[in-house]
Amino acid sequence: MTSIMKKEIFEEPGVVKHLLDSYVTDEDKISIDLPEKIDNIVIVASGSSYNCAAIAAPLFIEYVQIPCEYEYSSEFILQKKHFITPDSLYIFVSQSGETSDTLKALNIIKEQGVKTMCITNSKDSTMWKLCDYKILSDAGEEKSIASTKALTAQIFCSILVMLKLVSQNGVDISGYLNTMRRLPAYLERIKIDAQKIEQAARLTSDFQNISILGNKNYYPIAKEGALKMKETCYLNVMAYPFGEFMHGHVAVLNQKSIVIAIIDEENAEFAVRNLKKIKDEYNPKIICITSVQDVKSGDINIYIKTKRKLKAIFGSLLTLQLMACEMANLLDKNPDSPKGLHKVVKD
Ligand code: AGP
Repeated sequence: MTSIMKKEIFEEPGVVKHLLDSYVTDEDKISIDLPEKIDNIVIVASGSSYNCAAIAAPLFIEYVQIPCEYEYSSEFILQKKHFITPDSLYIFVSQSGETSDTLKALNIIKEQGVKTMCITNSKDSTMWKLCDYKILSDAGEEKSIASTKALTAQIFCSILVMLKLVSQNGVDISGYLNTMRRLPAYLERIKIDAQKIEQAARLTSDFQNISILGNKNYYPIAKEGALKMKETCYLNVMAYPFGEFMHGHVAVLNQKSIVIAIIDEENAEFAVRNLKKIKDEYNPKIICITSVQDVKSGDINIYIKTKRKLKAIFGSLLTLQLMACEMANLLDKNPDSPKGLHKVVKD
């Protein structure tokens, strides 16, 4: 029987298509309300939504050239001081719009009169009601405790906010929007090519020592893959920034471990060189999730064909989500009822 989690992963191309129809016009306008002036952004969230923040923040810095920080809600509420200017925008990302830590963070910031925005999947939620600016991530009800389609929708909405700001800087965003328009078909293709992903899940499910590596925007994707495998398979999967991994963490590897590396054009040379060192020194199994066809460093190489970072982010994410779901099945765990976890984390 197909799990709810898998069904929701398979809905992702449709979710993205729906968001394009809702927020992007044929004239390349993005219909999202933003404050007139923003000079810095802080994104606050928990769990998968935090991983969305960590994926989005470097994109804001790179494309909009605006300072952007991100923080776990649970850490944010413990901080005594927060960085605020009259034109700060605080973005709260939450599937449910009800997570206690994120709500507390929102209330702290509201008390200081700062502009707030939420990206949430629920129009009835407390966050939706409290924020000055709101974006409905509109993924449809997400039943699976392990969040998948809702995260894809949050990342997509964050990219739309980023592109709107880019266009307000006077840059033509039509090329980027065309890339986003091709995303549903791209994700459909990855889904159809699921055989390699199943093979990778089969191999990975034989191991207890699993490390997922990625640089920059792909490090939070590695973290998200690890979170999904923890929630559905109860394995202690660790994610690392690829370069940092070589500074000692690599010592955990041996023949009984497996490394999953996310590779794109930007880090391909570095990744191939270091995977060779890793293989020679520790001989773990290796899986590459790569948008560069020539990369063949893995025992299994999953090719997520694209030259566009804005697409590869979603392709590598969907691949890891499906892997986690398949691994749970192979390990005889039900991904739809993870032990002791709840859809909304409250106090
Ligand atoms: C993700 O798979 C989790 N179940 C969990 O980390 C979740 O993302 C987190 O609790 C935040 O929830 P929210 O998006 O509803 O605020």
